[in-house]
Amino acid sequence: MKKRIILIQLFVITIVGISLADSDSTFISNFPTEAERVWPGPEYWTNPMEDWRLSNGCLECISGGGNRNVHILTRELANQSGDFEISVQAGLIEKGNDPGSVGFRIGIQDQIDDYRSRCFRGGGIDAGLTTDGKLFIQNQSKPLNHSIDLKSVKLTLTGKQAENGYTLTLTAMDQDTNESIGVITQTKISPNRLVGNIAVVNNHDRKIKNGPRFRFSDWTIRGDKIAAHEDRRFGPILWSMHTLSRKVMKMTAQMPPIGPNDAQTVRLQIQNEGEWETIGEAKIDPDARTATFRIADWDDTKDTPYRLLYAWKESDGVIRDEEWSGVVRKNPTEKEILVVSGLCCQTDEGFPHLELTRNVEIHNPDLLFFAGDQIYESVGGYGIIRTPADRSILNYLRKFYMFGWAFRDLMRDRVTLCLPDDHDVFQGNLWGNSGNAVSMEDHDAGGYAQPAQMVNAVHRTNTSHHPDFYDPTPIQQNISVYYGDMIYGGVSFAIVADRMFKSGPKETVATWPGRPDHVQDSSIDVTSLDKAGLILLGERQLSFLRDWAGDWRESVIKCLLSQTTFCNVATNHGEDLSMRLYADLDSNGWPQSGRNEALDIIRRAFAFHLCGDQHLPTLVQHGIDEFHDAGWAFCVPAISVGYPRAWRPDELGIPHSNRPAHGLPNTGDYLDCLNNLVTVYAVGNPEKQLRTDSRIHTLHDKSSGYGIIRFDKKKREIVVEAWKLIFDAANPRPVDQFPGWPKTIPLMENYGREAVAWLPTLRVSGMIDPVVQVIDESTNEIVYTLRINGTEFRPKVFKKGLYRVKIGEPSIKAMKTINGLESIPAEVTKIIDVKFD
Ligand SMILES: [Fe+2]
Repeated sequence: MKKRIILIQLFVITIVGISLADSDSTFISNFPTEAERVWPGPEYWTNPMEDWRLSNGCLECISGGGNRNVHILTRELANQSGDFEISVQAGLIEKGNDPGSVGFRIGIQDQIDDYRSRCFRGGGIDAGLTTDGKLFIQNQSKPLNHSIDLKSVKLTLTGKQAENGYTLTLTAMDQDTNESIGVITQTKISPNRLVGNIAVVNNHDRKIKNGPRFRFSDWTIRGDKIAAHEDRRFGPILWSMHTLSRKVMKMTAQMPPIGPNDAQTVRLQIQNEGEWETIGEAKIDPDARTATFRIADWDDTKDTPYRLLYAWKESDGVIRDEEWSGVVRKNPTEKEILVVSGLCCQTDEGFPHLELTRNVEIHNPDLLFFAGDQIYESVGGYGIIRTPADRSILNYLRKFYMFGWAFRDLMRDRVTLCLPDDHDVFQGNLWGNSGNAVSMEDHDAGGYAQPAQMVNAVHRTNTSHHPDFYDPTPIQQNISVYYGDMIYGGVSFAIVADRMFKSGPKETVATWPGRPDHVQDSSIDVTSLDKAGLILLGERQLSFLRDWAGDWRESVIKCLLSQTTFCNVATNHGEDLSMRLYADLDSNGWPQSGRNEALDIIRRAFAFHLCGDQHLPTLVQHGIDEFHDAGWAFCVPAISVGYPRAWRPDELGIPHSNRPAHGLPNTGDYLDCLNNLVTVYAVGNPEKQLRTDSRIHTLHDKSSGYGIIRFDKKKREIVVEAWKLIFDAANPRPVDQFPGWPKTIPLMENYGREAVAWLPTLRVSGMIDPVVQVIDESTNEIVYTLRINGTEFRPKVFKKGLYRVKIGEPSIKAMKTINGLESIPAEVTKIIDVKFD
């Protein structure tokens, strides 16, 4: 193999008057003969991945469908003068029923100027050979000199620069006879069109259903118009995600579909006093293609450089350690403000999200939170495969790899939490119904439509690096769960799956024609949809949340993370927002009792709620019995909005009260679409007129963007920012946030309920910032728990009576209990000294 490379590199060729010496930019595919796998290697991107196989030293297309293609990532036609030559050996495997073609696409460009984007949306110049015996360059074609069986054809496309543009020449050579069987030439091609990605194509026409299939080998690219970009290799370790909580570091390396002859493990090393030390070796999961490490006793007091290693056989046959590296930052417990970026919902319209990732990097968050819809079914094109599970997983992984491709540089040095939502498991909406198996036609009745094996692979790719789960017992069909907590930088996060146990609307409440989740008839009484027995979070997650709400070890502020918001603040849906929805049962405003129960548990921890899903940024304060009596919730903007929603109560004459001082439209105290009490403080409605001159402008106008949440531990405040898509975070202006943001929320407002009475003031000595828990002695119920700021705190209570107060530091088990505290009116002053000296 090696010898052959040297021979080729010394070779200087002359075809149709073009002289091309080999240089650093020369590329030769050299597919390894012994490798049998789906993924060709780090130099390539295959479309779609599941339709290609590396086998017997060739890259085979296993689908006769249209527009199957392979991009070379490490070479491109550069915006520079010079000639080029691209050749490939193609062999017909199967003729199929429809005529088709084989050859190249070059100069692939997209309005988003990035080599990754061009792999999906780009158009270029097509050139190739049809199975009915014609050579073609764009619309021009010419029959071959004589027909052959296409079992072994070498296609060579050359570009030669001339005064009036480029001349492209495509030659076909019969490899069996070494004879030229045809040449076609096209002149006067603008140099502007010969910039961009290079691909080989199996069936150029995307409409072909059952066309021919080819195998490809000896793909060679050379010439001084070719630029090399070795840094664009993607893999074999594609990226990693990690978390750190309670001195346990967990990390998952995401791998491509490797083959049985490839290494099956990934190693993790950390740098210790300048030396790399191996601290773990993990097997690659055969479905999710993940390798997960769990390292206990992690020293979280310092930044730790890490690298993941994978023994990879290069195309020259030599095995080398390929690496992916980054830093596990020190636990930011001492930082006064923990910065979180809230992100969700990625259509591929904005891929690879250049503006957004650049801006998030400028904010330099400590933690990235992806709330769900890391993929949509449409991402990357080519549709979805639902079954069998192994094909479905490959189909999913290609889409998920696009998420990593866009965000991996942000994730490599930051703790990342990543929740799968409905689209991640190929369901437009998900009412998981504790894992019930359901068909897609019937999914509104509740359940998972995808094979459990695929669902579990999705869960693993998103959450296997999360801190250990609270109770990992799977649900029906052995579907995995992932609820649990993470304590990072003094903030305690609860992670729940707010769809996994939820009841479906079909056969439970939906009595109307049409979609069971859409109430489009204003005469339906939405309060009647809150039936007994309907589930939102489910008993298992509720009991976890109760535990979490009372556990304040190592934490100063608490925050719930889930996929979507616990209200229904969207009156208009659909592409032009003309669909008036009276209620949406996909929202977690339904079922209302489940919503209230969840809110009641988390307000007892003064917890803030951070989520996504809606594609409509909102900042609300929930009410259960009264407006403002529960916590605040921020639904972050979508990274790249597909399906838009809007909240337009003013136009629709929906009554409100207590509009905030900013006076913005559509804000104030409302009954939401499901009659829940919700104070809408801010909403980022899409523009009424969307710009259509570029996809990024359209996305911006549809309210794409992201959230930044600053947990200020010193001031016990949460600063909430909702940023738009297009702006410069290095020079931000007020208009770059959605109207109403930023907003500073005092932590105490997360249990905003009015006091009925008060307990005596607790005055602490010998300890600062102790945890205080108030218990109603008549019911033994925890009223709330929090970590106070400083040494003095006067607990409020919501009914008169006797209370027990636990106070101290639970991390070191230094807790004192004061029994029989009688509530007193606000105007009565009483002090109780609590001494830890
Ligand atoms: Fe979404």
